[in-house]
Amino acid sequence: MKLFDVYPLFDIEIVRGNGCYTYDSAGTEYLDLYGGHAVISVGHSHPHYVQAIKEQAAKLVFYSNSVVNSLQQRLADKLGRISGYDDYQLFLINSGAEANENALKLASFHTARRRIISFAKSFHGRTSLAVEVTDNPRIVSPVNNNGNVTFLPLGDIYAVRAELGKGDVSAVIIEGIQGVGGIQVPSNEFLQQLREECDKHGTVLILDEIQSGYGRSGRFFAHQWAGIRPDIITVAKGIANGFPMGAVLISPKFTPTYGMLGTTFGGNHLACAAAIAVLEIFEREGLVENARRVGDHLLGELAKIPQIKEVRGRGLMIGIEMDRPVKELRTRLLKEQHVFTGVSGTNVIRLLPPLVLTMEQADEFLHRFKLCLENYGL
Ligand SMILES: Cc1ncc(COP(=O)(O)O)c(C=O)c1O
Repeated sequence: MKLFDVYPLFDIEIVRGNGCYTYDSAGTEYLDLYGGHAVISVGHSHPHYVQAIKEQAAKLVFYSNSVVNSLQQRLADKLGRISGYDDYQLFLINSGAEANENALKLASFHTARRRIISFAKSFHGRTSLAVEVTDNPRIVSPVNNNGNVTFLPLGDIYAVRAELGKGDVSAVIIEGIQGVGGIQVPSNEFLQQLREECDKHGTVLILDEIQSGYGRSGRFFAHQWAGIRPDIITVAKGIANGFPMGAVLISPKFTPTYGMLGTTFGGNHLACAAAIAVLEIFEREGLVENARRVGDHLLGELAKIPQIKEVRGRGLMIGIEMDRPVKELRTRLLKEQHVFTGVSGTNVIRLLPPLVLTMEQADEFLHRFKLCLENYGL
């Protein structure tokens, strides 16, 4: 059987990882400023994480959500305390799209409305509702296009006000920092105004923190820079450092009923053990603070490089915008300098490293990046 060929691949097979480094099948070492697309939070193969997974796998990998799984409550307690959302409720699933799917569904159950406001350049996943609120017509199939969603310019509070004023909007969904959209940071003021408008009109505010959350921005959630509290927060990626998992943090104003939401695999024993180990490492190693400190350093140093058009981001979620397409630059970084990075659109290099990135590794990246610009004749 052939693989369904939907990914344009680099001809590199990564077979091993350690901290912020990965190694290919030929033994070449790569500095990982991509984290497998913002997924690796505590570093590749962190010993505490590996041990926790091994121990849990030897005991029990899975049993269904029809019996007590105390690991789920342990995870909820820890996440509530560390994130500052102790009073919220946790629903566990397996991916980011699934988290948004459930968040939007919950909002609609709660408000008995069906319209949703999303923003230009947003990305929220590829399943039915998640893709419908994603601003990319190329990945929305006719069956996903149900006319429930209005896209507005990011930052345009007048447009939001006009739509919410119609009284039929169930939810506003917004990324803490837009990732796929090119590392666009919504202003604190805009997030605060969104909070006010949603309150005024009985609309549910959903913060998609799937890429920007879990410490990446230098706060546990990127929206915490604006001092707001959304009604629903979605997370995935860094939550279990590569073990598939997603979660929805739900305000106390939502009342659950049996059967309202559900999943087979969500919150399984192995995923919970991985996610608990991740939070233990966050605390022991101060990873949110590290993301802020090393991120500030990177942002400051990148801003001094004259060939760069603009640097955007917070913490270890950084966009480097060039005045030309970055495809070749990214390939050269990988092939010549052995550095993994991501891209957004055509002109932006995206940095999403593991949150354990050290100052020395950040400087090593800056050195290789500058070399690459020189070699490329920029
Ligand atoms: C902001 C955001 N939301 C949702 C998703 C979808 O997550 P998943 O691929 O786990 O379904 C992503 C994935 O890149 C994302 O960046």
